[in-house]
Amino acid sequence: MEFTTRFGVIAASVGSAVGLGNIWRFPYEAGEHGGGAFLLIYCLFILIIGLPVITAEFIIGRSSRSNVYGAFKHTTGKRSVWRSFGLFALLGAAMILGFYSVVAGWTGHYVVSSLCNFNGASTTDELHTDFGNFIASWEAVGWTLAFILVNFLIMRRGVQKGIEKMSNMFMPLLFVILLVFCVHSLMMSGASQGLEFLFKPDFSEITPQVMLGAMGQAFFSLSIGLGCMLTYASYFSNNTKLLNSAGIIAGLDTLVAVLAGIIIFPAVFSFGASPAEGPALVFEVLPSIFLDMEWGMLWSVLFFVLLLLASLTSTISLNEIIIAYLTDEKKMGRTKATAITTGVIAVLAVGCSLSFGPLSGYTLCGKTIFDLCNFCSSNLIMPLGGILFSIYVGWHMKRGAVNAQLRGTSRVFVAMLIFCLRYVAPICIAVVFLSGLGLLN
Ligand code: PHE
Repeated sequence: MEFTTRFGVIAASVGSAVGLGNIWRFPYEAGEHGGGAFLLIYCLFILIIGLPVITAEFIIGRSSRSNVYGAFKHTTGKRSVWRSFGLFALLGAAMILGFYSVVAGWTGHYVVSSLCNFNGASTTDELHTDFGNFIASWEAVGWTLAFILVNFLIMRRGVQKGIEKMSNMFMPLLFVILLVFCVHSLMMSGASQGLEFLFKPDFSEITPQVMLGAMGQAFFSLSIGLGCMLTYASYFSNNTKLLNSAGIIAGLDTLVAVLAGIIIFPAVFSFGASPAEGPALVFEVLPSIFLDMEWGMLWSVLFFVLLLLASLTSTISLNEIIIAYLTDEKKMGRTKATAITTGVIAVLAVGCSLSFGPLSGYTLCGKTIFDLCNFCSSNLIMPLGGILFSIYVGWHMKRGAVNAQLRGTSRVFVAMLIFCLRYVAPICIAVVFLSGLGLLN
């Protein structure tokens, strides 16, 4: 299989990158970690770590034309650290799918809830209470499982192509809608306070934990460090310019996250909510905006449907990492591989969903199952993958092979990329990682 058009390549990778990470996770991470300071560091990390690591994944994927485990098979020994990481990456993908499906389930619930005018809730407090009750309920588990079932049906029949086509059509629409919401938010009473929170960095807020959070968000949002982009690049044609494509993907992804911030924070301050609300933030604030808009119900349904679609293109890419491994390496049939993947994810996801209700008391280091899956995947496994992919391309691959993948790219850019992959990215990731975990004091 190969992507045939340049647009297809970019659209599938942007489909993987843009999702709940931009619209749900970015605002609450920024809200919890000091707003402007977080955004500044986030953008810096996208540039010096994100961009080089996506390109590294592209280089490994297209040169090996294989999955995240198989990619290292021909070039390294049987028990190499790279191959072992391949298995670790599968675990990371499963963890993300676990908590991501829960949030996608919440999104599904909001499509219906919008149609019912949020069950008559009209104040931020009422929306807050309703949301709290909903996520703690078995209904939320039902929505999560429904989302996983849809994934199963799509993955089993291999109709990703249809979904990708649909998302190519609808993602530009999501973008336009976000612009409309931005304009609306900018006219709210708390607009200047919100913008100041998002864009004015307070350097005293920058702590090792904020840096680790920003780095984790950069990895999560760009879908890097697990071999997702690597798997997609194995389907790229030889004419695709890897560095250019990586630049477009990183640029669009960051733009969507910033737009989400411009929508959320003015509303947060207008409605007197707290920016540090955590995972609930977007789900409590957005309905308040919709209730404030003319034709609110229509906007709301349209928005949540598009967000659901954006989530689906991200979960498809995550499922693909695991299924490509099972079918290529374990020689399983597609249906069996999909069923096993779905089973594992369903168990994890039910645990994640219940951690807002009956399992909320089960914690490790103060983190619930949901928080653990979220933290371990983005702040541990993905950065580790980033280090390994950078070192692999920067130090291990033959320079000729790397250059062959970057044909047509200006020499200066290639030199900068290699410098980043050899030194900047691995060292930065390691330092932020260790100090964020409190291991560098
Ligand atoms: N980048 C996706 C998002 O922002 C999530 C994702 C992470 C997808 C890792 C694939 C791999 O929603």
